[in-house]
Amino acid sequence: MNEIVPGHILKRHQDNILIKKKYDPNTLKNLKKSIKKLLDEKNGVLISHYYVDEEIQKLTEETNGCVSDSLQMAKFGQTTDANLLVVSGVKFMGETSKILSPEKTVLMPTLEATCSLDLGCPIEDFKNFCDQYPDREIVVYANTSAEVKALADWVVTSSIALEVVEYLDSQNKKIIWAPDKHLGKYIQTKTNADMVLWDSSCVVHDEFKFQGLQKMKALHPDAGVLVHPESPMDVINLADAVGSTSQIINAAKELNYEKFIVATDKGIFYQLQKENPNKEFFEAPTAGNGAQCKSCSQCPWMGLNSLENLERTLIDMKNLIDVPNQIAIEAQRSLNRMTSF
Ligand code: 13P
Ligand code: SF4
Repeated sequence: MNEIVPGHILKRHQDNILIKKKYDPNTLKNLKKSIKKLLDEKNGVLISHYYVDEEIQKLTEETNGCVSDSLQMAKFGQTTDANLLVVSGVKFMGETSKILSPEKTVLMPTLEATCSLDLGCPIEDFKNFCDQYPDREIVVYANTSAEVKALADWVVTSSIALEVVEYLDSQNKKIIWAPDKHLGKYIQTKTNADMVLWDSSCVVHDEFKFQGLQKMKALHPDAGVLVHPESPMDVINLADAVGSTSQIINAAKELNYEKFIVATDKGIFYQLQKENPNKEFFEAPTAGNGAQCKSCSQCPWMGLNSLENLERTLIDMKNLIDVPNQIAIEAQRSLNRMTSF
């Protein structure tokens, strides 16, 4: 994690985890009241990912916004009547909302929140990589910049990545996959498609370890294992269900276990527990012996969203998401394929 997360973000992230900041009831009540009033005044709606602060997720639910995986977040902005979208998550989620709803105003509580996959796939390097394989379809994960999406033929999220690649393979297409190598390897193994993989990974999911998970399974032999496919392949191989955040939440409801070990960002525990009050959830272990930092199953960028900066953003109408016109038009083509697949 130390290599790609900028020092000041990592420091703030570690401080937040140490402090384990909780709002006192009065502050929480006032913040929520103020944000609700601002949303009403400005015809705004909250769109939040399952990984953000539990209080943001609750407020989003209370105000009839959208708490979901990245695919549903992308679609929601197009269907709501609100003309102000406030996206709590990471930068690519705000950009996607803006590209798909260009006529709406899109704000984010912070513009610092990016993603290691996005950072790990700079447009110039990726363009050079694609130039080596002119006969291949370019399929990119949604966790990329607008520029990378503009270059791609297809954008996918982990909810539909398997199906899209299966479809392309059935059309005898050869594929360039970027940027997450673990998700790419998982899809390649499942579909046998002809894929060349870009080499990048998620700093959070990369830290789930096979040996640790195996030991934890031995401690809880009656627990099911739920894994996000950004995790390494040997971890995926231990799973009872592999899927996007929404697919993990569905699996927890549907699978016949009373306990689960969960390998994804722990922001998801709020929804898991809410949907399954009688089931028990455990965090999959991270940071094997070789890990550089004591990782925590918490995305350092998702953690930058807070009720405070959400309120400030609405008051000042700042942190506006803007995507240059030509890039937006080109990225819209591959994103439309994703939303209508
Ligand atoms: P989902 O599409 O499963 O919500 O995942 C987004 C993400 O960033 C996972 O790390
Ligand atoms: Fe990106 Fe990983 Fe954070 Fe998801 S959890 S936003 S893939 S760094």
